[in-house]
Order: sequence, then structure tokens, then C-alpha cells
Amino acid sequence: MQISLKNVKNIATTASDCLIMTVNPSLSGPLAQQLDSACGGAIGKILKVGDFQGKLAETVMLPICDGVKATRIMLVGTGDAPLTVSDYDKIIKATVTALNRTRCKSALWCAENLAISDRADTWVLQRLAQQMTLASYQYRKTLSNPKPGMSLQRLSVAAPVTAANKAAIAAGSAIGEGTNLARELGNLPANICTPTYLAEQAQALNKKYPALKVTVLEEKKMQQLGMGALLSVSAGSDQPAKLIVMEYTGTTKSTAPHVLVGKGITFDTGGISLKPGAKMDEMKFDMCGAASVFGTMETICQLGPKVNVVGIVAASENMPSGRATKPGDVVTSMSGQTIEILNTDAEGRLVLCDALTFAAKFKPASIIDIATLTGACVVALGKHAAGLFSNSDDFAQELLSAGQAAQDRAWHMPLWDDYQTQLDSNFADMANIGGPEAGSVTAACFLSRFTKDQRWAHLDIAGAAWDGGAAKGATGRPVALLSQYLLSKAGQ
Ligand code: BES
Ligand code: MN
Ligand code: ZN
Repeated sequence: MQISLKNVKNIATTASDCLIMTVNPSLSGPLAQQLDSACGGAIGKILKVGDFQGKLAETVMLPICDGVKATRIMLVGTGDAPLTVSDYDKIIKATVTALNRTRCKSALWCAENLAISDRADTWVLQRLAQQMTLASYQYRKTLSNPKPGMSLQRLSVAAPVTAANKAAIAAGSAIGEGTNLARELGNLPANICTPTYLAEQAQALNKKYPALKVTVLEEKKMQQLGMGALLSVSAGSDQPAKLIVMEYTGTTKSTAPHVLVGKGITFDTGGISLKPGAKMDEMKFDMCGAASVFGTMETICQLGPKVNVVGIVAASENMPSGRATKPGDVVTSMSGQTIEILNTDAEGRLVLCDALTFAAKFKPASIIDIATLTGACVVALGKHAAGLFSNSDDFAQELLSAGQAAQDRAWHMPLWDDYQTQLDSNFADMANIGGPEAGSVTAACFLSRFTKDQRWAHLDIAGAAWDGGAAKGATGRPVALLSQYLLSKAGQ
């Protein structure tokens, strides 16, 4: 979707397939009044009759009107100020639903009375661009007859064409597109989206953005590097593991990069510690951390901020077979630390620990890993917040703020030494599970042993990464949080 700003002098004489006007119950606001007079007081009348009352997220289409150049007029209620962010999202969602009942190709967004608590005007524009871009996404790849997609192709936004407003629209669109890429990769079935497929997607990104440097490490190379933990996960699979590295250079080469490391388990059966059958299909989403790294790289490449970013994806399947790792097996990680694999279903931390050790070679300014790591995190936080763990409280604070700003929130969880002993093993330097208590914390404790000298954070997105039920599908989170953080590092 193309979203652009438009300096509109008179909304009545501006052409479009649909003029979208936000209206509050008292019809206050100069634009709404201008429109009301242009169509002979029709808005005032409909408010009086009560068929449309200007309530939050209420919509109505007005009949074609002579005094107005647009083909249609849609009124969208805002209710009474002040609005919350979720009120605003409801307004946008209702607009999209109403638009989708038409076949409009272009629309003009005229908003007023949209003051949102604690949010700048530029944020309001950015959110619109992001939400409209998200609304344009539809999964089609494996459907013979997908439902017709959104017909809207161009959205003009009536607002001053200033540098700040332009940047806001660009950021919102790019974050929306990055999120859509993450959703698509997450939604693809595991028989298509294999580690090899993910490696090809990195090459495709490189084709789109030639300045992006892409390297794919094969199993042989990982063996040479001593990645015994990562390779223990792919051992049972016929699909070779891939370690995918994407380097974006937006500022001087000597500037330390921010590194993102994504868990890319393209299917998690649990391995020999086989998962139960119910909902096992959802384990195709076990690469959503990786998908968020791809999505964030897309956003960053589109916006070109002055920051260096390295995206690393540890891609593997977790399958049972005669060659699969068995409970009790001991492996040596790239760091030299040995691990007793008591449960092959705790595989995410095994691929991540070697990817995190590998990441240190970039001498990062910060490292964030993103993973659908534990069912325990879903129990603790549900789908609304990602679990955030860090060895630096001020880094955690930065990421919490980025999540708050992007409305893609995380919640700070403890990473106290007290939990570390749960990983004790008689046969290796550590076990890969820490027992039934505080499962998301012990998973993070495990990772912390591979990031000691780094400014590191871990986002457990097991709850946030996908929705179930009728709207089953990947959410693309936390592309918005990560992009917000990286843009803030570039001073944007
Ligand atoms: N990918 C799963 C975590 C998961 C489960 C995410 C359900 C979302 C929904 C992960 O690999 C896993 O299996 N974790 C185990 C760890 C346990 C064996 C210590 C879990 O959470 O049960
Ligand atoms: Mn697992
Ligand atoms: Zn997993």
C-alpha cells in the first residue's frame, strides 16, 4: 500500500474514491464542519437522527453527494477525547472493515479530534501507516482460492507535508512491511519454510537490498566452529541446519553493530522427547523469532538509518530419528561448555547458545535474541507481553521503552543467580532444562551463560508470536519493538 501526505486546502474539492472523515459526537472540528457545509448539513442531520452518533469506531457511508468531489464519504466516530492507543487502533480497524465492503482503490484520510494520551502527532501518523500496511496483508501462498484482498492501494493522509510527518509515514509503512514479512514467513507451512528456504529468503533480501551482506554457514562450517549444541538439534532431521548472517551497514564500518539473533526452528516435534499431538501443527511457528529478525532487517533496509545491524538466524528442524540426539547425551557447545541434554524438546536454547557465541565475533554494542522459547512464558504472560530478560537493567529499560513506544510491549522478568542452580548437572557443565519451576527464567539463565561479556537481552515471544482461534496466524511481533529500538540508536 502506498501511503502519502497531502496538503489539503479544501477537503470537499479533493478527489478520491473515498473521503474518510473522523467525527466526534458534537461534530466539533474545522474539517468536519467544512465537509458538513459542503454536503448541505448532511453530517449534522445524521447525528441528529441518530443513525450515526460519532461513537468510538462507529462507521457509516454517506450517499453520494453533489457538493463533494470524492466518490464516497465515510464517517468514522472517535467518541469523546482523550483517546487511548487501543481506541485509536479500533478506529483504524473499523475503517478498514468498512473500506473492505467497497472496492475503493484510493482513499483520503481526514482526521481530527484524534488526540491520543501521551502520544505526539507524528506518532499518530506513524501508527496509521503501520496499521493500514498491516491490514493489507493476507496469507495466500497455499490457498487455491484466497478471498479477495484489500482493494485499497493508495491512502492519502490530509496533514502538512513536513519532514517530520514524512518520516513518520515512512517509519510506519516500513515497520508494517517488515511485520508483514515476519507474518508471512511464520505462516508458511514447515514443508515449505525449511532452513534452506529461510537461507533463500536472506539471499532474496540481498537481491532487493544489494548493500545487505548475506552469509550462510553450512553444517560443515558449523562443525569446524565447534557448534555441537546447534548441530545436536539438526542431527535428527533430513533438512540441513543453516546459520544465516545478514549485515546492514548504515554508518562507519568501525561502529559496533547491534546484533539480533533469532530462533529459527522451522518445525519443533520435540525430537526424541516427542511432543503430544494436540496443536503440534503450531510448532511451525517455532521460527517466529527468526522471522522477526528477517522482518526487522527489511524495515531497517527500507529506512536506511545510521546504525549498524547484524541479523543472525539459527535455522534447524527438531525431529526424532535414528540419528537424533537422545536424552542424556552430552554435547560441547562452541563456547567450550558442555551440556547434558535431558530433554530434546528444550532445543531452542541449544541452537541459540552457539549462535550467541558466534555473535560475539562482531564485537556488538548490544545483542538481543528473540525466541519462541518456552511454554512457561505463555503461562506467565499470555499473548500480550513478550518476556524480557537481560544482564543489564538499563538495557532492559531501553527495550521496555521501545516496546511501549511501538505498542509492542515486553515485561521485565528476573534473571537472578538464585535460579542458576536449577541447571546443575552431574555429567556436564550444565543441563539444558531446569525443572518445572520458572521455566522461562531457567531458559534465560541457560542463555545468560553464553553472553556473560555482552550487553545482552532475551525476548521470549512464545505467547506473542502467533494468535490462535479464528484469526490463527503469525503476528510479526516483535518487529515493531526491535525496529523502534534500532531507530532510536540511530537517533531517529
Ligand atoms: N518451542 C517450544 C516452546 C513453545 C511451546 C512455544 C508452546 C510456544 C508454545 C520449545 O522448544 C519447547 O518445547 N520448550 C519446552 C521446554 C521444556 C522441555 C523445558 C516447553 O516449554 O515445554
Ligand atoms: Mn521444543
Ligand atoms: Zn521450540
